[in-house]
Amino acid sequence: MKYEFPVTKTTAPKTKPDAKGLRFGTVFTDHMFVMDYNEKDGWNNGRIVPYGPITLDPAAVVLHYGQEMFEGLKAYKTAAGRVQLFRPDMNAKRTNNTNDRLCIPKVDEELFVDAIKALVKIDQDWIPEGEGTALYIRPFIFGDEAFLGVRKSATYKFMIILSPVGPYFENGLAPTKMYVEDVYVRAVKGGTGEAKCGGNYGGSLKAQEIAHEKGFEQILWLDAYEQKYIEEIGAANAFFVIGDEIVTSALNGSILPGITRNSIIALCKKKGYKISERKISIDELENAYHAGQLKEMFASGTAAIVSPVGELLYKGEDMVINDNKIGPVAQEMYDTIYGIQTGKMDDFMGWTVPVE
Ligand SMILES: Cc1ncc(COP(=O)(O)O)c(C=O)c1O
Repeated sequence: MKYEFPVTKTTAPKTKPDAKGLRFGTVFTDHMFVMDYNEKDGWNNGRIVPYGPITLDPAAVVLHYGQEMFEGLKAYKTAAGRVQLFRPDMNAKRTNNTNDRLCIPKVDEELFVDAIKALVKIDQDWIPEGEGTALYIRPFIFGDEAFLGVRKSATYKFMIILSPVGPYFENGLAPTKMYVEDVYVRAVKGGTGEAKCGGNYGGSLKAQEIAHEKGFEQILWLDAYEQKYIEEIGAANAFFVIGDEIVTSALNGSILPGITRNSIIALCKKKGYKISERKISIDELENAYHAGQLKEMFASGTAAIVSPVGELLYKGEDMVINDNKIGPVAQEMYDTIYGIQTGKMDDFMGWTVPVE
């Protein structure tokens, strides 16, 4: 590692949760990473300290103008005891793309990965072992200068916290019910849709709440101009199997470039499957459904890896996909990515990075 950070160990280690029954994002480990930024020194004073609350001035920029970004990735422990990360370089790159969009100072990508490695190493005993579990890593950066007025912050905090997690959806790989959102939109080209910033999610809660009240786990977002083309899912990208073609929406400036999406595309190419990144309309999907050609639909993202969609509701029509069962493509993508991540499968793509 090029970068090393001083460590202050906790004097009150917490009890680790049982891997069985672990939920997503509710438990946090003993330590966290913190680094400061000011205009004179740049990023400085990276350190690992006991996990705990932080103080913020009530006038901090992030609280008023939302200058904030975050990332998400996971660490796993293999049967041989090797602790490994999945493509952290991709999260480092996406961080800097988001930072650029939000006028947050860029972070050296090697420092970003080294900080994750250093923290995971300290808290590696928190990595749960059990089907569908992992140590979720949440890096985030926010402007903490105290002032009111719309301009970029002069000071920032870069932090990383860790959370042992179980499956993102309570029912694991069971197909979910999805609602096609045709009132609210998530993002528009030129906005912040392709950046990973908190504001995108704050703005999506209303639609998600309504969908939950109606009994749906997830929402499918359409484009903001015509509400015709499929963009992505709540916190995931969307894949469809139509006939023998695997399709995902082309990145267009308002879709988050998912790392799982990128991995699925690369795997499909490697396996010689017909995979397309293109525009896909909700009408095309409906027509494929009626013609018996919509074989599978699934969401892709770090949290769940792959999550099959069993039912899709659009303007009152309930489309039941693949008999409400996980399909072969979704299953193969899950097994391969999770297999590589956990070391159960040979890393033939060179995607894992050891924490040493
Ligand atoms: C809006 C959105 N789209 C897609 C994704 C999937 O991205 P990734 O595969 O990098 O987790 C996420 C999750 O991070 C997301 O929040």
